[in-house]
Amino acid sequence: MGRNQESEWHRHAVGGLWEEIGKLQFEFLVRHGLRPEHYLLDIGCGSMRGGVHFVRYLTSGHYFGVEKSSELLDAGRNIELRRYNLVNKNPILVQMSDFDLKSLGRSFDYALAQSVFTHLPLNSIVRCIMNVEKVLVPRGRLYATFFHNPRGKFDLEPVMHPRPTARTSPHTLTKTHIIMTLKLSNGRVKEQD
Ligand SMILES: C[S@@+](CC[C@H](N)C(=O)[O-])C[C@H]1O[C@@H](n2cnc3c(N)ncnc32)[C@H](O)[C@@H]1O
Repeated sequence: MGRNQESEWHRHAVGGLWEEIGKLQFEFLVRHGLRPEHYLLDIGCGSMRGGVHFVRYLTSGHYFGVEKSSELLDAGRNIELRRYNLVNKNPILVQMSDFDLKSLGRSFDYALAQSVFTHLPLNSIVRCIMNVEKVLVPRGRLYATFFHNPRGKFDLEPVMHPRPTARTSPHTLTKTHIIMTLKLSNGRVKEQD
């Protein structure tokens, strides 16, 4: 790994495509109604690839990020927030891995799990969704990316990540990372385009 790559390890660790996937998730939520006064819960926020856009847009203190890796969270806090000059927007960043979201002590208008369920076993996904439901306001929404199980509901084998290629177009990215969203609204989970 070269020096530059080493210092940017936290960007690679969340899958690279820093600009593309960061903007994609931000623009997606804004298109789906996120306003600056809303409270957003970014589940598995990593080193804040999307977080930097949300923090810039939201009212100070309205962005909450939870993340299992303290190293990624520290990189988000100490490198990216400073780089984007956003420290004074007071994002709340909490290290946790058990989705104990009630411990955050507030409810949220929107929750996002971007590229998180695509890395988790089914049990953890269910735990996360159940706990998100407890902290959403009545008309609040969770959007999450996930992979279809092409072999049907009785297949419990891991679903493999489709391999991006050098020729991956923005459209393919959108399809893999955002269009397959799970929407939790008023306790009902449905898939949406
Ligand atoms: C591919 S990264 C995506 C990060 C971020 N959402 C983004 O779009 O850049 C997946 C993140 O989920 C985090 N994660 C995995 N399991 C988790 C858990 N149980 N609780 C919190 N975060 C978790 C990982 O540590 C990692 O930072």
